[in-house]
Amino acid sequence: MRCLEPFRASLSLQAAQSPAPGVPRMIARLSASVAAAIMMSSSALAQGAELTDPQIAHIAYTAGKLDITAAKQALERSENPNVKAFAADMVRDHEAVNRQTIALVKKLRVTPKDNDTSRMLSQKAAVKTKELSQLKGVEFDKAYLNNEVIYHKIVDDALATHLIPSARNAELKDLLKAVLKSIQGHGQHAEQVAAELK
Ligand SMILES: [Fe+2]
Repeated sequence: MRCLEPFRASLSLQAAQSPAPGVPRMIARLSASVAAAIMMSSSALAQGAELTDPQIAHIAYTAGKLDITAAKQALERSENPNVKAFAADMVRDHEAVNRQTIALVKKLRVTPKDNDTSRMLSQKAAVKTKELSQLKGVEFDKAYLNNEVIYHKIVDDALATHLIPSARNAELKDLLKAVLKSIQGHGQHAEQVAAELK
């Protein structure tokens, strides 16, 4: 069965633990709130339906699209050059990957299929975008980067634990593996920029 239940369970565990050394408390709190929000709002995922390749492609595309939207908000609102540079990287990298995803699904004659996971990601991102729109200056920068750290951890975990193992088509699987590497790099980059914020 390929569902996201273990993925949510790992987030729950993460939320229950004390912050690791060097992890700012704000990130730990955000982690807990994100985990709780996902657990509460994604009851549909608990049904455990096996993901199909069209659904997996849609989730991967949506995850990239949402990070682009968040980055564009940061490019508009942030005044910090490091935060802006990070956001510009997100736009560049996710647009490139999503172009590859579109090219692959066209080649495979597959239509990406909307599903509970991609809808849940979109709903959560919309809430976060609204929250961030109330902030400015360093408060915005901290909240944006903290969310980026958590978001990339979520997508990293989903890719490694569920999406890549569930993908049947070899080319889709290879693309997802490349996405995973990129996502891991983004998460580390977000942590680095967050740590440098004053
Ligand atoms: Fe990213």
